Amino acid sequence: AGVLRWTWRLTYMSAIGLLGWTAYGIYLNRNPVEQPEPDPSKKTLVVLGTGWGSVSLLKKLDTENYNVVVISPRNYFLFTPLLPSCTTGTIEHRSIMEPIRNFLRHKGAAVKFYEAEATKIDYEKKVIYINDDSEIKGAVSQTEVPFDMLVVGVGAENATFGIPGVKEHGCFLKEVNDAQRIRKRIMDCCETATFKDQSPEEVKRLLHMVVVGGGPTGVEFAGELQDFFENDLKKWIPEIASNFRVTLVEALPSVLPMFSKNLIDYTEQTFKEETIEIRNKTMVKNVTEQYIEAEYTNAAGEKVLERIPYGLLVWATGNAVRPVVRDLMGQIPAQKDSRRGLAVNEYLVVKGTENVWAVGDCAVANYAPTAQVAAQEGAFLARLFNQMAKTEEFETELATLSEKQGTAPNKDSRDEVFAQIKDVQKRLRRVKQMGPFEYSHQGSLAYIGSEKAVADISWLTGNLATGGQLTYFFWRSAYLSMCFSTRNRVLVFMDWMKSYIFGRDVSRE
Ligand code: FAD
Ligand code: NAI
Repeated sequence: AGVLRWTWRLTYMSAIGLLGWTAYGIYLNRNPVEQPEPDPSKKTLVVLGTGWGSVSLLKKLDTENYNVVVISPRNYFLFTPLLPSCTTGTIEHRSIMEPIRNFLRHKGAAVKFYEAEATKIDYEKKVIYINDDSEIKGAVSQTEVPFDMLVVGVGAENATFGIPGVKEHGCFLKEVNDAQRIRKRIMDCCETATFKDQSPEEVKRLLHMVVVGGGPTGVEFAGELQDFFENDLKKWIPEIASNFRVTLVEALPSVLPMFSKNLIDYTEQTFKEETIEIRNKTMVKNVTEQYIEAEYTNAAGEKVLERIPYGLLVWATGNAVRPVVRDLMGQIPAQKDSRRGLAVNEYLVVKGTENVWAVGDCAVANYAPTAQVAAQEGAFLARLFNQMAKTEEFETELATLSEKQGTAPNKDSRDEVFAQIKDVQKRLRRVKQMGPFEYSHQGSLAYIGSEKAVADISWLTGNLATGGQLTYFFWRSAYLSMCFSTRNRVLVFMDWMKSYIFGRDVSRE
């Protein structure tokens, strides 16, 4: 009984301790302390973008060492892995956004943030031209920012491969407003399909949800959409039940090509059970307002162009290089053979430059364009920049000590300074020993609908490929733990509970 009582007391005290610690964390977060102003006498480090790569860099960067300027058209960080869940209202978009201002206010020294798009980087002049593209414009909405060091972390734009009609009629899934647009469109299609006197063909078209691209974005969205239909739409709008269809169109022979073969099979089998149609080896060639034209090879080996009518078209065919990056590549001869983005060396320095680094989807370093890679690259650069600042500090100290040694009045003080020099030299050597960037792959995870997920996880000695409901709980806990802040974690958890208890909201706005 005594042991039990003590166990109970210890648990009770730990719970109170944990609560107190969380409350204190929230208090500190809500009450930032005074920050020293940016020091313009220090080197100006400009960071472009507030995505995975740039924010991961800013998280670990000692901002007291540089005059840091951040430029991005988005004044928040977006946790993209949960974006597909926002298209159906399983999660509200603000739950996966973290304002960059809140985050920067907690850095050691203040950081300047400009909400703007970098329209051009002039490498020779070391200047970035920026443009305020937001709705409200001040008297000045275009200007330039000089830099000594530059980190390009602008991500990528949506690939369309020049296919006509995609930009005009398709919905992408990269940003918050894309998810909002899709959510609105799903409901619009459902309500329009139930409009009085709608013809049966038109009802079929409106309720045909087509997803192009069988990568993880397309697969996760298709799974979320089918869940929405099964759990909510069918219940509240029963008249759409027999016509609502989700089709996934993929040019390659299978979806999720980056996953293990058994997980690809598992995903395709699960989609079949969920009644999501997969059209592999089908390449979309043209998009109009009401149908797509897709090419496939029939049983006789002939190429057939099929018209597929749709109500909603989600286009998820991967990444393309942003114009500002392409322009920079054009200024640097060493980049002339690079096609998919800025070629970087093993220290993430943009090849052909000395003071420009690139992270994430806009950098080409032989890794897949994922959040995981971008985050690790950002963290690596923060360590590199912190070390570089320390190196400079030690070198200045060494110069001062050498001078001091030369003017020392006697042997004893000379020996003392000599010992100090040895110590600084040792520290300098340690700091200079930083190895190149090495990516450590933790695995790939994707949600495939009906509370199932697939995971290819790097395990102690090899790879673990698993799919199903247990993996789904792992997927949820992994992404919950990876959310940017405690606030995000709490909000996402509450959203999950909310949709579980009340169902998803089917209002159109
Ligand atoms: P981003 O995160 O895209 O950030 C780019 C930043 O640059 C943004 O802040 C943008 O506003 C800003 N920017 C754009 N243009 C300019 C400009 N001209 N000037 C200044 N700033 C600019 N990866 C995973 O590893 N796991 C997942 O589960 C996963 N899920 C995903 C789900 C979806 C729906 C999507 C779309 C992607 C997913 N990814 C996932 C991929 C991952 O999101 C990207 O690889 C990652 O965001 C790349 O980080 P980044 O910093 O390079 O770019
Ligand atoms: P992707 O590049 O992975 O897949 C795009 C797919 O579209 C390809 O399979 C391609 O064959 C297909 N395609 C291209 N053109 C086509 C056409 N005209 N017709 C039919 N199909 C066509 O793109 P995605 O899914 O947007 O992912 C981008 C990056 O983000 C990837 O690196 C991915 O790994 C990462 N990501 C990771 C996630 C995860 O780990 N859960 C989730 C979402 C994205």
